[in-house]
Amino acid sequence: MPGQSYKILFTADFHARREHFEDALIAGRNEKVNAFVFGGDMVSAKGKYFSHYEFVKSQKNFINNFLIPFLKEVKSNGTEIYFMMGNDDCKCNLDLFRKINDDGLARLLCDDKQSFVYELAGGIKISGYGYVAPTPFDRIIKEWEKWDYDGAWEKFLAFGPWIKTKGWKSTDERGEMKIEEIDLMNQHEALSKDLERLALLTEKPEKTIYAIHDSPRETNLDVVSRGHTGSIAVRDFIQKYSPLATLHGHIHESPWLTGIFGEEIGKTWSFNCGKQFIVFDIFDIKNYAVVENEFKGRIRTVAVGEDGYKNKYLAKPL
Ligand SMILES: [Fe+2]
Repeated sequence: MPGQSYKILFTADFHARREHFEDALIAGRNEKVNAFVFGGDMVSAKGKYFSHYEFVKSQKNFINNFLIPFLKEVKSNGTEIYFMMGNDDCKCNLDLFRKINDDGLARLLCDDKQSFVYELAGGIKISGYGYVAPTPFDRIIKEWEKWDYDGAWEKFLAFGPWIKTKGWKSTDERGEMKIEEIDLMNQHEALSKDLERLALLTEKPEKTIYAIHDSPRETNLDVVSRGHTGSIAVRDFIQKYSPLATLHGHIHESPWLTGIFGEEIGKTWSFNCGKQFIVFDIFDIKNYAVVENEFKGRIRTVAVGEDGYKNKYLAKPL
C-alpha cells in the first residue's frame, strides 16, 4: 500500500563481539528502524577454550551478562527484535533464548525443532531457520548441520573433500553442560524437508521474509576463496517458493569477495550481510542500504545504486 513503511535492520554473525551489538544499536537509531533481525551466531565467541564445558559456559555467560541487558536497552526504545541461533551457538542454551522470548524481550524465529511466524505489517510476515549445510570445519559444534537432501551424505565427496563430518553437540544435563561427539555420516535429516515445512507454515512465502542462517548455493552470496559453499536446499527453496526476501549470513567473506550484499533470485531479494547491517523497508526492499560497520561507533550508511558495491568492496580485507 502506498505510504506504508516498516524498516528492518538485519545483521548476523556477531560472534559475541560487543562492539557489533553496540554499533547495531546506533545504526538502528540513526535509520529509525522498526525492528532488528539478528540472524544467528550471536553468542559464540571465537577463541581457544580450555574445555568443552568452558566453551558452552562462555556462551551462557554472554547471554546472561551482555545479551539480555542489551535486548532490554533496544526494547526500551520501542524497537521490536527478532532473533535466532546460528550453527556456532550451543543448543543447550536454547532454554535461555526461549525465556527471552517468553519474557517479551525478543521474538524467537526458530529453535532446534520448529520455526515461528510473526506478522510485521501489512500482511507481511517473518520467520527463520538456523540449520546449515555441512561445513569444512573440524572438531566444532556440528549440532546445527544437516545434509541438503536426504541421503546426500553418499555424495559428500561431491561437496568436496574439505567437508568434515565429525564434531560435537552440546548438552546440558541437570545443569552440567558438556559436549558429545557426533558424526554427520550417521545423520539422515535434510534441510530440504525442513524448508518444505517452513513454506507450508508461513502459507504465503511470497509475503514472508525468512532469516535463514546459511546462504544460497551458486549465488553471489555464498562465495569463499575456493568457490561456492552455500546450501543447495536453501537456493532451491528460494527458487521454488519465491519468498519476499531472505536474510542470510554464515559465509562472512562472500560480500567482500563478490562485492554483492543483495541479489535478486527470481522474484526474491536475498541478502548476505557479511557482518554488516542491511537496512530496508519491507514495502520497498530493492532500495536497501548497507551500513558499514567499522566498530566502535564508526558506522556510515551507503545507499545502493545501480553501480552497486562491486569495485568499492573487492579490496576490503576479510
Ligand atoms: Fe554461522
